[in-house]
Amino acid sequence: MRIVSGIQPTGNLHLGNYLGAIRNWVSMQDDAAASGGECLYFLADLHAISMPHVPADLSANTREMVAALVACGIDPDHSILFNQAQVPQHAELQWLLNGTARMGWLNRMTQWKDKAGKNREGQSVALFTYPVLQAADVLIYQATHVPVGEDQKQHLELARDIAQKFNNDFCAEDAPLFTLPAPFIPPEAARIMSLRDGSSKMSKSDPSDMSRINMTDDADTIMQKVKKAKTDPEPLPSEKAGLEGRAEANNLVSIYAVMAGTTADDVLAQFGGQGFGSFKPALGELLVEKLAPINARFVELRQDRTALDAILRKGAEKARALAIPTLEKTYDALGLVRR
Ligand code: TYM
Repeated sequence: MRIVSGIQPTGNLHLGNYLGAIRNWVSMQDDAAASGGECLYFLADLHAISMPHVPADLSANTREMVAALVACGIDPDHSILFNQAQVPQHAELQWLLNGTARMGWLNRMTQWKDKAGKNREGQSVALFTYPVLQAADVLIYQATHVPVGEDQKQHLELARDIAQKFNNDFCAEDAPLFTLPAPFIPPEAARIMSLRDGSSKMSKSDPSDMSRINMTDDADTIMQKVKKAKTDPEPLPSEKAGLEGRAEANNLVSIYAVMAGTTADDVLAQFGGQGFGSFKPALGELLVEKLAPINARFVELRQDRTALDAILRKGAEKARALAIPTLEKTYDALGLVRR
């Protein structure tokens, strides 16, 4: 098993990232250690420049995100933790794959359509070609599994399409170059929604900080955000089917279930018939209890910039060594003269 995934270092790590992706990064790291597999987790800083950004914030956020990931349980001695900018092979492979990716495929990406909105002409070229870099990120390591939230599924399907077309166009049938990566999406936390609007996902780019729980929020802030979360006036149902059409209630019950390591039906067996006046404090306390140790570790780790930089340097060195063979084979397959 070769597990690869990334996160953009733009702003805080939030509960959607944690439940949708990072929790699985940690459990897959532990499984990989037992089975001899390998995990590569990276900060997608090259992706982050596809949107307007402040350079000093990007550097600071990159280091903070390393501290946050280690605080969540990513162990840099067991997983390869690095940032793309120190592994230029990602960007190199992207260019080579640009010859295979089709305009029509990129035009269909929902994230491109959402982010560009009506102003496509005004967007950076990087925002449009972003999914090709994402394909390079996983294909360069011959990833077998990619733990992500639901919103990344389409990008991963594109990575498979690019790999397939490259293999067909440039490789012998019995010697494909690229492994087709499989997304690994947790069904119970595929899409954690905003606390202010049950129809949009919890996101770093939401201007309202009240819409998300940050992994770095302190106990008071977490309690406050849960208390203020949008809900409806009905009491909770006693079975999951009763949450149909109640997006906000459904979201809070899902969060409770995943954090408690149980099912929505079990949560409703306990809280069914009760109003949010009693459910919200219970959810807030559960979140505080589970997130407090992560928060404490984060606060400690973030202060040691030298240690954070050393983690990235060491991870990048290992990642480069794994990336180079596939990159060289790609140059060869395309007939590019290198020696
Ligand atoms: P990013 O930085 O937006 O998010 C990181 C991870 O968190 C998941 N996620 C969520 N899961 C459930 N509910 C939510 N509300 C939620 N919000 C975010 C995302 O699905 C993701 O797994 N393009 C990627 C970064 C990337 C990448 C890659 C991922 C670059 N190259 C290669 C995998 C493989 C992104 O912007 O994720």
